[in-house]
Amino acid sequence: MPYYRVTGEIPRKRHVRFQRPDGGLYSEELMGEEGFVSDSSLLYHEHPPTAIVKSEGISGAAAEESAPNHPLVPRHVRTTDLPRGGDLVLGRQLLFANDDVQISFAAANASSELYRNSVGDEAIYLQNGTALFESVYGSISAVAGDYIVIPRGTIHRWVPAARGVAALVIAASGHIRPPRRYLSQYGQFLEHAPYSERDLRGPDGPLLAEGEDVPVIVRTRAGLTRLTYARHPFDVVGWDGYLYPFAFNIADFEPVVKRTHAPPPVHQTFEGPNFVICSFCPRPLDFDAAAVPIPYNHHNVDSDEMMFYVGGDYTARKGSGVGLGSITLHPSGFTHGPQPGAVEAAVAGLAEGRTTTDETAVMIDTFRPLGLGPAARRAEDPEYPWSWARAARR
Ligand SMILES: [Fe+2]
Repeated sequence: MPYYRVTGEIPRKRHVRFQRPDGGLYSEELMGEEGFVSDSSLLYHEHPPTAIVKSEGISGAAAEESAPNHPLVPRHVRTTDLPRGGDLVLGRQLLFANDDVQISFAAANASSELYRNSVGDEAIYLQNGTALFESVYGSISAVAGDYIVIPRGTIHRWVPAARGVAALVIAASGHIRPPRRYLSQYGQFLEHAPYSERDLRGPDGPLLAEGEDVPVIVRTRAGLTRLTYARHPFDVVGWDGYLYPFAFNIADFEPVVKRTHAPPPVHQTFEGPNFVICSFCPRPLDFDAAAVPIPYNHHNVDSDEMMFYVGGDYTARKGSGVGLGSITLHPSGFTHGPQPGAVEAAVAGLAEGRTTTDETAVMIDTFRPLGLGPAARRAEDPEYPWSWARAARR
């Protein structure tokens, strides 16, 4: 996280005695990235955060396998065809994966168990619904359009509202952060960045819960373990630092518009290990008198491009079968672009006074190929790879 935050009660200095009302001492815990040489927070627990009483492997919960995208084709998956139910941790349905990131869909209506991902950071994009995110740092009220970024190691749980939520789960093998180019050398958002500190919502806290023998699902590279803690992990009376979960709503992204069409890096929102996350938001269309206001055909030499269509009307995709809730994967090795006729339709739209687009989409570009998970196979539109040729022959 790019800036300092303090919640609840903390002692005047680091690493000094901090007394509980009963005369005992609070347990200090450092959550620190990259050993001791990157961002960190200090948390003060009522009980030792080290006290575990049981460890059990969760059988049948080995990481779901993905298979290579072979033979190579672009893919279209309708998330609306995927099953509903379960929770936001164990109810994940794997869409795409490589060694850097696992991308899943969840349509959850149940509360999750306590959960700690020790493989990497997670970014949860809430497509619809509302949910309470509860963690050792406090809670965040999550609404549709939020990215909730959760640092590796954060013990938390998800409590969806009664109507449930649909979400894209982006689980990295490292850290998910604002792009470096948006920040000053000390971490402040620069003036050209499409969002700033004021757009980020940190956790409200402290969040205290009572309980003994409390299970926490821990994800490691070996799979899932259920660790039982002697006392409830939500016992932090105060913390401070630069490391904590936060929410950023896609509607707070300030789109960059050019006279002619701007490429996806202007939409970048976060960066992860060997991947980026971009937000396509409602904005004025390109405004040159001769502008073509939709993307040009492009061959992403070094990346696979996944797009999740979450709102509005996607002119460039008309006639392809892509709709709200669709996910496309345009892999390296395949040139993609607007459906035939879309350029002419967009230019005609400009002439008729259509000067804005209401499209909203979340894009993930990975720099290594994505394999296909079971959910991508299950809800795939088999006609999509041929949709450009079909339209061109009409
Ligand atoms: Fe693209």
